[in-house]
Amino acid sequence: MSYSDEEFFQPGLDFDSEKFVVVDFDFHRNPPASLERIYREIPAESSIGTWQKVHTMTDFILKNLSARTVYAKKIDADFAQIKVAYPITLFEPNNLPQMFSLFAGNVYGMNTVSYLRITDVQIPDELVNSYPGPEFGVQGIYDVLGLKKGPILGSIIKPKLGSPPDIHANTAYSTWKGGITWIKDDEPMTNQDFCPFEDRITKVLEYADQIKSEQGRQVIYACNITGPIDKMLKRAEFVVDHGGKCLMMDVITVGWAGVQFIREQGFNLPIHAHRAMHGAITKHRKHGIHMRVIAKAFRLAGVDGIHTGTIYGKMGYGELKADEEEVYGSNEALLSDQFGNLKPVMPIASGGVGVKNIGKIINALKPHVVITAGGGVHGHPNGSEAGATSMVQAMEAAFEDVVEADDLLNWAKENNKTELHHALDTVAAGYSS
Ligand code: 6PG
Ligand code: MG
Repeated sequence: MSYSDEEFFQPGLDFDSEKFVVVDFDFHRNPPASLERIYREIPAESSIGTWQKVHTMTDFILKNLSARTVYAKKIDADFAQIKVAYPITLFEPNNLPQMFSLFAGNVYGMNTVSYLRITDVQIPDELVNSYPGPEFGVQGIYDVLGLKKGPILGSIIKPKLGSPPDIHANTAYSTWKGGITWIKDDEPMTNQDFCPFEDRITKVLEYADQIKSEQGRQVIYACNITGPIDKMLKRAEFVVDHGGKCLMMDVITVGWAGVQFIREQGFNLPIHAHRAMHGAITKHRKHGIHMRVIAKAFRLAGVDGIHTGTIYGKMGYGELKADEEEVYGSNEALLSDQFGNLKPVMPIASGGVGVKNIGKIINALKPHVVITAGGGVHGHPNGSEAGATSMVQAMEAAFEDVVEADDLLNWAKENNKTELHHALDTVAAGYSS
């Protein structure tokens, strides 16, 4: 099947959106390839075609299994945007690796395309509902914590790596004691000699129980089980056996299959999805995959919360409009009630969060968001407990629409919020590029 075949390029085609997955592509051509050739090549190469007619092609396959470019917009001589409709029968139900091998596979390697970026995907309910989706989702997380709504304040144990289990656990305790609810391991913290997994989990969970008896509130420790499948299985079982309330995975490095496997073991614990390495896929503005597509995929797989950015922190494009577009787009994908029967997923905002920017983040992302601060808590001059309290106070200020740094300082003085006042005097007041 050559790419010149009109079957693959049918702009304006009238098709049943319930029977086709539609993928939005931006692409830049690699001259001398023409835009028009690529209009055909992307659907062909990502469905039934190849570079050469094959005698084994049949009319049935061509008519029923061809992907088609159904919309094409030339932006300039080298850049176009297309929508490609893929018959739903091309997709194995409940199989993320196959889904991305299909429409995000060879097309990225073709020599006729210099840059290619998937900016969105529309998936029919029939295929969405073949996936488990979140077991808890936004409401389930609130139920575990006995909360009516967010934002939920969190923290990451810092230093990122290196503390032994007792120090790691004590830092968690102090941070919870200061009023933070959600504690996570940092993304590369798994089972190193300096902080063995089982020792760490046991000690932190003992403190979680202590907070519950001291303060009468449920807190969360997102235990990072990231690793090969067999190790993740053992670690998740250990967390369950020791009364843990949340599993954490670095979902990009663990991969589609790893996340689907752990979700489908039925541990009955919320899954906190860190997205470390996503930047290699999502950050380039011309090439890769928009975070909203990654967010939709992990909603299908069934994570309960996933990092999608803060708009005002240390990660992202560093351009407000671009960061807003990416974060709002991703969060809409997570929270939309138009995604089959699947529950909404909690956005997690992290990275460079401090008292000087958390108000803006709350105003931008409330109510459904977990906001975690690492340096913003443990950089406080009076320690982690004071740092946690300063974040709680900054949230109180935000609820009174006090967000800007100068206003915050006056508010802290007027309301005798000493932890916030001290935080505002130090670098732990919020990341700025
Ligand atoms: C912290 C977190 C933070 C996290 C980044 C990841 O210290 O606040 O450890 O550094 O690793 O937020 O970036 P995204 O949240 O944008 O995925
Ligand atoms: Mg981190």
